[in-house]
Amino acid sequence: MAENRIKGTSLFSPYKMGKFSLSHRVVLAPMTRCRALFGIPGDALVEYYTQRSTPGGLVITEGTLISPTAPGFPHVPGIYSDAQVEAWKKVVDAVHAKGSIIFCQLWHVGRASHQVYQPGGAAPISSTNKAISSRWRILMPDGTYGTYPAPRALGTSEILEVVEHYSQAALNAIRAGFDGIEIHGAHGYLIDQFLKDGINDRRDDYGGSMENRCRFLMQVIQAVVSAVGVERVAFRMSPAIDHLDAADSDPLNLGLSVIERINKIQLQAGAKLTYLHVTQPRYTAYGQTESGRPGTEDEEAQMIKTWRRAYEGTFMCSGGFTRELGIQAVAEGDADLVSYGRLFISNPDLVLRLKRDAPLNKYIRKTFYSQDPVIGYTDYPFLGEANAGQAQRSRL
Ligand SMILES: Cc1cc2nc3c(=O)[nH]c(=O)nc-3n(C[C@H](O)[C@H](O)[C@H](O)COP(=O)(O)O)c2cc1C
Repeated sequence: MAENRIKGTSLFSPYKMGKFSLSHRVVLAPMTRCRALFGIPGDALVEYYTQRSTPGGLVITEGTLISPTAPGFPHVPGIYSDAQVEAWKKVVDAVHAKGSIIFCQLWHVGRASHQVYQPGGAAPISSTNKAISSRWRILMPDGTYGTYPAPRALGTSEILEVVEHYSQAALNAIRAGFDGIEIHGAHGYLIDQFLKDGINDRRDDYGGSMENRCRFLMQVIQAVVSAVGVERVAFRMSPAIDHLDAADSDPLNLGLSVIERINKIQLQAGAKLTYLHVTQPRYTAYGQTESGRPGTEDEEAQMIKTWRRAYEGTFMCSGGFTRELGIQAVAEGDADLVSYGRLFISNPDLVLRLKRDAPLNKYIRKTFYSQDPVIGYTDYPFLGEANAGQAQRSRL
């Protein structure tokens, strides 16, 4: 937004995000960590999120399940039962006590699941009957990796029920005290399975044309906006990321089409979504290489700039940001906010470290999804705490 491209705007300068006042632009990216035993966020999550909260900072939760058919990882938290809502209140209260704002990311994995995660051992639901290819592996509850099974394409008449699950989950999140919600429309999960023409092979009103592929998403956004108000709703997309086979033949246009529709919703609502969160094409999820990348790094940068210019609201970028790249993105007006993922896993005080240009702890990939409530989760040292034991964390 033009008003933010003023001289002196930096990653560490305040930002007015709708009705929220941020004191800096370093955001905790949503990250699945598999520590919410049996779907209930407990003390480990309270500690993890509190550690990463700063006065005037923005924290986004890990993908949080909207319904019992939504999971595709072990021990992911939900926001569809009263017990889950009650448990989240402790996390939210602790984060608020540190002065941070917290958004809940609403998630349905669609076909990125397995019968073991589904009620009654049913097939996962999706836009399609096609399975994710064997190039990708699913993390099973016992820690091994399996192949993705064939999903069941939702019947046209079933889709509005899933839309309803999103709006109910959003209401639940507000009841738990969250400041807002982020709809997860990225990375090959359910919403992306409708958006991308490399997956969506439907012949009804939800497949084929751009209008039809965007229909499910737009219904979700409209429903959630009606439920909790436009200023509490954010959206995440990754048109150029082919994680879990979510490829599109024209990612630039797909991103622009979604943005155009969100701009229209904002116009009708008379207010903006809290932010649009976009994953950089360069992000290679989980260290796996992207195939079919749309172009060179320069072309990818141009794609992000085009989306940024088209979107009439707060623009957040994520994926591969170092301190320097984050500073540059904000200073040059390419992003209002930058979300950090892996560096925030290993540096609970990342904001302070980036401000001071202090050394960073390296992350340990093998504990990203392990279920230990402490190791690789809340035991990364704060600045000044490093000792011999913690130095071992430097191995990657
Ligand atoms: C362990 C892990 C779990 C993640 N889980 C989610 C998730 O639940 N929802 C989501 O939108 N992105 C998820 N991501 C992507 C991150 O939000 C972020 O965009 C990504 O890590 C790139 O940022 P980075 O280069 O700063 O790590 C995950 C990433 C990692 C490493």
